[in-house]
Amino acid sequence: MSNSRPAIGIDFGTSNSAIACVGPQGGARLLPLEADATNIPTALFFDAESGSTHYGRDAVSLYLAGHEGRLMRSLKSLLGSSLMQEQTEINHRRVSFEQVVSMFLAELGSRARQAFGTGGDRAGDAFGSVVMGRPVHFVDDDIERDRHAEDTLRRAARAAGWGEVEFQFEPIAAAFDFEQRIDRETTALVVDIGGGTSDFTVVRLGPGRSQADDRSSDVLATAGIHIAGTDFDQRLSLDCVMPLLGLGHVGPSGREVPSRTFFDLSTWHLINWLYAPRAIRQAQDLRKDYTETRLHDRLMRVLAGRHGHRVANEVEQAKIGSSSSGGEAVRLDIEFAEAGLSALLEGPGLQHYLAPLLNKVVGCATECVRRANLSAGSLGAVYLTGGSSALRPFQEALRAAFPNVELVEGDLFGGVAAGLAYTAAARSQTQAGRR
Ligand SMILES: Nc1ncnc2c1ncn2[C@@H]1O[C@H](COP(=O)(O)OP(=O)(O)OP(=O)(O)O)[C@@H](O)[C@H]1O
Ligand SMILES: [Mg+2]
Repeated sequence: MSNSRPAIGIDFGTSNSAIACVGPQGGARLLPLEADATNIPTALFFDAESGSTHYGRDAVSLYLAGHEGRLMRSLKSLLGSSLMQEQTEINHRRVSFEQVVSMFLAELGSRARQAFGTGGDRAGDAFGSVVMGRPVHFVDDDIERDRHAEDTLRRAARAAGWGEVEFQFEPIAAAFDFEQRIDRETTALVVDIGGGTSDFTVVRLGPGRSQADDRSSDVLATAGIHIAGTDFDQRLSLDCVMPLLGLGHVGPSGREVPSRTFFDLSTWHLINWLYAPRAIRQAQDLRKDYTETRLHDRLMRVLAGRHGHRVANEVEQAKIGSSSSGGEAVRLDIEFAEAGLSALLEGPGLQHYLAPLLNKVVGCATECVRRANLSAGSLGAVYLTGGSSALRPFQEALRAAFPNVELVEGDLFGGVAAGLAYTAAARSQTQAGRR
């Protein structure tokens, strides 16, 4: 029975999510999740006035339009942390972050069923095998917390009606998607740089191999690190915007203003905590640490107006703008902190500010190749996927690490979901074969 139902791949991303299916004819298809778009920002907005919940672009645009309410982004970054079980108040109801993840996954399920025109309440009943992606490490260097993160996601998916989901490493899924487009055998380094994590695999790929039941011997190595797009945004915010609100500012006692608030304000998944009454009081108390209280006024305006995600969004857009324009200076509007206030991201700044992070990410890529017992020169291709793989300084650093190897730019946002659906289809075939 499960074999006749479509196999599903769910890419629950830090920044964007996507779902693909493989039907009886084979070939993965990405499902429309928000109007015609086949990817949806992993975002929820709880509208305080109407009490309604919004998802994706709709959520982000209501927040940016100034609607009263609460925006949540980067939920995946909380997996594996103790914050996941913390309760938060949403429209007069106390819910845990795990429940918020579950709400998002339930909405994905409902939209996926809609794309198929399938009735019923539970996505798990409409579909066959379901495979969900996971980074190589949810949490770096902590196996226990990493397992805890996967368990939490599995539980959230079950509570969302998806039934029992299996997991696959996101870079391996991306590799299987790449494999559909090659016509000869190759050994590739697959590079998936997303919003929360950078993940790598070295894998043997080929048209004849994709039919094999068990691909584990083709996966020569995997590696991953918890540094990606949201960390680039954090770094740029700390360097370019936070000094305007008081980071690094020396107060009357000769000491700098304590930096914690600025770190949280620059970190996508921590922004919401700054709006709690206790955090607001702590921020208010910082006033004595400022010589120029005007800077403190700016900080308090950002917090009181709940503009934290607006700052993060401005920084993210400036990062993408500077990268895409090949290094032009980009001005960030932070008018909401003070009339006429703006910050500047200088063109060469992108490379300068991000170099330490990019070095770690590229170091993880070379480590992956080393673990596969290969030299850089013996790779057939380096395949790029994930939104942050488009970042120009990253591509330059990767080219320098793997000279003479072809860099193939893949689908930035859909490849992982497609590869997960291929994995789901292969697993349901194996299960059917066993019966
Ligand atoms: N053109 C671009 N240049 C640089 N960065 C970009 C570009 N487009 C998107 N990004 C960044 O890509 C990231 C999102 O990528 P993606 O959707 O692949 O991540 P994700 O799958 O949600 O995250 P993860 O896989 O880590 O859980 C964001 O940080 C975004 O700022
Ligand atoms: Mg991803």
